[in-house]
Amino acid sequence: MPAFQTLPGFREFYPDALARRNHIFRVWRHTAGAFGFAEYDAPVLEPLELYKTKSGEEIETQLFNFTDKGGREVALRPEMTPTVCRLVGDKAATLKRPIKWFSIAEFYRYERMQKGRGRCFFQFNADIFGEPGVEAETELISLLVQCLCGFGLDEQDFYVRLSDRNLWFYYLEALGLDEPRSRAVLTAVDKYEKIGDDAFKPYAAQFGSALDPAIKEKVLAFLQIKSLEALETALAPFAATAAKLGARLDDWKKLLGNLSAMGLEKYISVDLGVVRGLAYYTGFVFEAFDRKGELRALAGGGRYDNLVGRLGYADMPAVGFAIGDMTFALLLEQRGLMPAFVQSPEVYAVIGGPQERLAAFADIHAIRASGFRVDYPMKEMAFGKQFKAAAESGAKLALIYGSDELAKGVVKIRDMAARTEQEVPRQNILATVRDFLTAA
Ligand code: HAM
Repeated sequence: MPAFQTLPGFREFYPDALARRNHIFRVWRHTAGAFGFAEYDAPVLEPLELYKTKSGEEIETQLFNFTDKGGREVALRPEMTPTVCRLVGDKAATLKRPIKWFSIAEFYRYERMQKGRGRCFFQFNADIFGEPGVEAETELISLLVQCLCGFGLDEQDFYVRLSDRNLWFYYLEALGLDEPRSRAVLTAVDKYEKIGDDAFKPYAAQFGSALDPAIKEKVLAFLQIKSLEALETALAPFAATAAKLGARLDDWKKLLGNLSAMGLEKYISVDLGVVRGLAYYTGFVFEAFDRKGELRALAGGGRYDNLVGRLGYADMPAVGFAIGDMTFALLLEQRGLMPAFVQSPEVYAVIGGPQERLAAFADIHAIRASGFRVDYPMKEMAFGKQFKAAAESGAKLALIYGSDELAKGVVKIRDMAARTEQEVPRQNILATVRDFLTAA
């Protein structure tokens, strides 16, 4: 048994695995660019205080924290949201709004390990600061959908559950609950899907008596709402007395209307069962799941209008989400959407003897210097083996440097997929390779 192993839940990325990870990051980065988001980065180690009470109890118990040599209480970041709030808060006066930012970074949570959950994982975070209206949610939910569709996933593969903590609070207020009781009910709602009625036990313990059965019945019925129409029906009795509920329903109509205009309604499912565990969410909240319901959440996010203010800066409206890399990679693999060759050479040179090798070197270097990926066997090898290596490498083209070809001043180019070959004068090799690969 070797002396040192990775710590439980930590991951090593051998080249194949890193190529797959990079492929995912490349598509996310490209998609964020298409939506006009700018990339930022920040420290991996932060003051412990940044997460205490800000992120919520669950994350607090999962922190990797310690005292550094200077006696500071520090933690490896479990999420990006408090950090990005600090970045924005610090420069709020000079940043042009709306601020649309994204990052791809590694996070650490001391969690129980399960399929799709580790103790270190990557997230793609996207956030918008400075926009109080549903335009921000529209932008972020459409970005989330595209970050998944960009790999070939579609509405058969995943969906986004959309809910609203504001609506819940207004509704519970209309039912006569005060804020502490409403919070306790929302905590129960968050757990209800997993543990059923036991989710309401902490409420009874906190307030000395169980939630009024008539109210509980209404809460459980509200939880079942799956459409805008059902929501309107449920809220109709309060139309005269609770103006906030009516205004909120208008926000729902606008957001769903915007997403429908983009053709995205097929991805969205109204679902008030989602309330999100993290402490800072204030309004719309959403989570993405695989349709088959086999995997844990792919992504989660929502509005958090108070967090920048709670960190000591001027208040700033904010919405954002994060997609995790682990569940997402599992889904791509399940659906056969992880490409087989993510870091393959584009061109593979098949070389005869030592003389041909020198000719090949001249061309290989020129093609590489033009930015194309070229590989070749380091040692002399039989042609058959080299063709096998070319096929296994995933290259689109093979360049064949045999003595007959060189005597004629040509190189044979094989299109690996079409299995066709043509002879090209050596001085035209680079142009031919470029034309082929840029057209491919
Ligand atoms: P979260 O729901 O805690 O939200 O995490 C978002 C996603 O990160 C999850 O849906 C999951 O895919 C992934 N994830 C979380 N924990 C783990 C883990 N232990 N192992 C593997 N993957 C994990 C947040 O973190 C919020 N800060 C998102 C956000 C950004 N809200 C606003 N802006």
